[in-house]
Amino acid sequence: MSGSTACFRVVKYPLGLSLVFCLATLLPDVSWAQTSSASMPAFRNALHAPPSGWNGPVFELSDDYPTEHPGDCPETECTWLALDVDFSVDFDAPPPDWYEGKWDQYIARILDYVKEGQDPQLSNDVGFQVDVGGETRWFHVPWMAYDPTAGREFIHGTTNERTAHLSDFLGNGRGMGVHTLPSSDSACEEEFPHGFETWAVGVYNQWGGYSIGQVFPKSGVPAIGSYMGSPMPVGLPFSEGTVVAKFLTTNAPPKCVPYLEGSPEWQVHRHAITPRSREYACFRRVQVSRLAQVDVAVIDERSPTRWVYGTFGYSAEAEGDTVWDRLVPVGIQWGSDPWTFPAVPESESIPARQSVLNPDIGIYEHFGCRGRLAGPVDNPMSSCMSCHGSAYAAPNGAPSVIGTNSPPAFGFDGMCTNYSQDNQNYFANVVPPMGYSGGQFPNNLSLDTSLQLLVAFTQYGYFNTDGQPQACTDPNQF
Ligand code: HEC
Repeated sequence: MSGSTACFRVVKYPLGLSLVFCLATLLPDVSWAQTSSASMPAFRNALHAPPSGWNGPVFELSDDYPTEHPGDCPETECTWLALDVDFSVDFDAPPPDWYEGKWDQYIARILDYVKEGQDPQLSNDVGFQVDVGGETRWFHVPWMAYDPTAGREFIHGTTNERTAHLSDFLGNGRGMGVHTLPSSDSACEEEFPHGFETWAVGVYNQWGGYSIGQVFPKSGVPAIGSYMGSPMPVGLPFSEGTVVAKFLTTNAPPKCVPYLEGSPEWQVHRHAITPRSREYACFRRVQVSRLAQVDVAVIDERSPTRWVYGTFGYSAEAEGDTVWDRLVPVGIQWGSDPWTFPAVPESESIPARQSVLNPDIGIYEHFGCRGRLAGPVDNPMSSCMSCHGSAYAAPNGAPSVIGTNSPPAFGFDGMCTNYSQDNQNYFANVVPPMGYSGGQFPNNLSLDTSLQLLVAFTQYGYFNTDGQPQACTDPNQF
């Protein structure tokens, strides 16, 4: 045991005004390394091996993480960092503008970096490649092939995420600028009464990979150190230069969501649909899933949260020959707008200004809570950074159960609908090593917004405590 000091900085006010309070406490030097046999499940490629005779693409975990920090990211590579954009909060100025603020260029530059060396059509055969220009540029998070419900499948390494519904894609009014007929709507609801599953794969570049390799060394057991006096996984927070990208696919067919026409059709080993009830089952089968959304996140030290999140939606209506051309930016977000309802009462609320939304998307697109950013298959009551701001792992190698011993990332009663302490906590801005806003989870470890790392900590937690993952449960609940 060694004594140290835990500081919590609450950044809630504009102009960098923040409250810092420190607790002198006894924090153990954590050692969770009860076993070294964690490395096998941690770094396996997928939940299931490809069946014999399989001749389609096969996912391989990119886990040869850089062991040295790649240094400052050159301006020629991290071009967005060289762009003059304004992250400040000026309540007297109008909310930032997509074009005037150069946010359109900022996000375009990130996509240019992500698409470098990739297949122009992101076709099933090629998928997303981790090697660019003869070097490994992209890395995956370990432990994501352990959970039998949502764990990585063997073709493209995707994992199961939030189920989207027709209203997410087309809106409740439907047909808002989209050519859907009510008849196809009801046919789709009948065919897919339990919505459309999302299967996604995320990648971190060398800067991100350097951090991940330290959080999860070869043993597969998370390494815990300290940052600014508070316990935090070794290698975190992520450093400038970090780029994360995520490719989200859906089984919604173009006949239900017309703007997905021409989107890459990936084979995904995903949950089969039970014939009568049309429910998704644990049993998996190779089926088509279409690219619907591409998320990006970068560290930019100019941002008050250090992060900038952005997203693109696939649109058949966009011009261009390649799939990358038809990825339309939806918006960008660098904070959770703690001055906007429901983080403050309606009477005090100002329009969101830490999210900037593209006014010219051309297809129906929902955003997040009150003008904050969320993507096509995301929960519209949430926002990128509020959900990601809940990435805190339970301490002492326990599994993190979201909403129980780890913050309620996926929601709670009244999310986005009423001014409450829960909403105030959820739509707050925090930076490592600060704890989750509101002080409810004081001993949890900040994962610097990485929810994939939270998945990894959770799965490691089950391995550590039960020696096995949780059994597959009804995927509809997910
Ligand atoms: C309600 C919760 C929620 C919202 C809203 C959300 N995400 Fe995520 N996101 C997740 C979860 C859970 C994961 C990890 C699971 C996975 O990747 O399989 C994740 C993973 C990611 C990753 C991979 C790296 C990481 O942090 O794990 C990126 C990048 C990302 N999301 C970007 C975005 C962007 C951009 C938006 C908004 C357009 C967004 N997310 C909105 C829950 C959310």
